Amino acid sequence: MTAERPRTLYGRRRGKKLRAGQASLLETLLPHLEIRLPALELPKDRDIWLEVGFGAGEHLVWQAEQNPDVTLIGCEPYVNGVAKCLGLIERSGVKNVRLFIDDARLLMAALPDRSLSRAFVLFPDPWPKTRHHKRRFVQRDTLDILARLMKPGAELRLATDDPSYLPWMLEHACTHRAFEWLAERPADWRGRPADWPQTRYEQKKIAGTPTFLRLRRL
Ligand SMILES: C[S@@+](CC[C@H](N)C(=O)[O-])C[C@H]1O[C@@H](n2cnc3c(N)ncnc32)[C@H](O)[C@@H]1O
Repeated sequence: MTAERPRTLYGRRRGKKLRAGQASLLETLLPHLEIRLPALELPKDRDIWLEVGFGAGEHLVWQAEQNPDVTLIGCEPYVNGVAKCLGLIERSGVKNVRLFIDDARLLMAALPDRSLSRAFVLFPDPWPKTRHHKRRFVQRDTLDILARLMKPGAELRLATDDPSYLPWMLEHACTHRAFEWLAERPADWRGRPADWPQTRYEQKKIAGTPTFLRLRRL
């Protein structure tokens, strides 16, 4: 099943010219890892984790290294980020990563119900202007789809450092009836868990203090 092309949520698909080594990885390594819809073959005997908007892939590859029994699917339409991620994949030697080089919602529309054991949406583009809020990835409809895709007990991890996206995430995700917010005290959203490495975007400290939200699919 393929979805109609939804409204674009991301900015650029390409940035500055790729280095020769990066361009070569797109030609040689990517075809072995890429998910090209409508073909979608998923391992039946392994947990599948999804990362939406992996940027340059540091978090994705770290999770793949730490969790060799899990298959990580990363979605990212920004080709320069994909090229950096391929470099990390090659250097680390991980074999459990698959990449979808497009809008994550197209892949989500094709994934089977209850196929995901974990999902990450880390520092999504904040779209701070009110008229752009409809472009935010965290929306009622994407959360409904994630709820359909996630197994009961599966964890959804969200992060933002944007002062206006945080209340939006609390309003839309933490009160969603399919999810339970796992925080019990402020330290639970202010401190990054040990199995949650810094992303490149977080390191840049663009907007403000990062907040880490962990939710459980009920
Ligand atoms: C602010 S960056 C954060 C990247 C990374 N998560 C990090 O923390 O370093 C947001 C990323 O999400 C990607 N993105 C935006 N909309 C997306 C979508 N619908 N599907 C997949 N990726 C998306 C953008 O291309 C961008 O790389």
